[in-house]
Amino acid sequence: MSENQQAPNRRNFVTKAAAIVVGGLISVVAPVAGVLTFLDPLRRKSDTRGMVRIAPFSSLPENGEPRKFPVLDTLVDAWNKTENVPIGSVYVQRTGDDTVRVLNSVCPHLGCSVGYRAATQGYFCPCHKSAFAISGAIADPKSPSPRGMDELTAEVRNGEIWVKFQNFRKGSPDKIPV
Ligand code: FES
Repeated sequence: MSENQQAPNRRNFVTKAAAIVVGGLISVVAPVAGVLTFLDPLRRKSDTRGMVRIAPFSSLPENGEPRKFPVLDTLVDAWNKTENVPIGSVYVQRTGDDTVRVLNSVCPHLGCSVGYRAATQGYFCPCHKSAFAISGAIADPKSPSPRGMDELTAEVRNGEIWVKFQNFRKGSPDKIPV
C-alpha cells in the first residue's frame, strides 16, 4: 500500500477514535450533571439554625422593659424557598448600650405562650401558672415548669438585633435543643 493510501486511513482512524472518546465523555458527564441539578435543593440547608434578624435595637424601650417580637425566617425545603415564615416569638430586653437578653416565649413546661406582666416585672404562663423573673429564672417555687425560660444566643450587629432561634425539649429540667 502506498503512503498516499495510508494517510487517509490514519486520518479516518484518528477521527473515529476522537468521536468515540468525546461521545463517551458526553454520555457520562450529561447524566451526572442532570442528577446533581435534580438533587441540588436537597443539598441546600434550611436557614432556621442560623442567626435571624429580629428588629432594630432602637425599637427597645430604654427602661429595660421586654418587648415581644415574632421570629420570621427563610425556610428552604427540597424544592421551595419561602421567606418571612413565622417560626416562633421571643422577648427581647435591652440590658446595656448594645446588649440584649432574649428569651424564647414558649413555656418550658408544656409549651404554652408565656406573657409579660409589667406590674410584677416578670413573666407568667396562664396554662399551669408558672411564674418567671424578668431574667427568665423561675420566680415561684410552686411553678410546674422544670426550668426557667430558655435564653437564646443574641447579639446587636449594626444597630440590629440578631438571634440564634432555637426550641428546646419541653418538660425537661435540662435545656435540650430539638
Ligand atoms: S405550659 Fe406553662 S405552666 Fe404549663
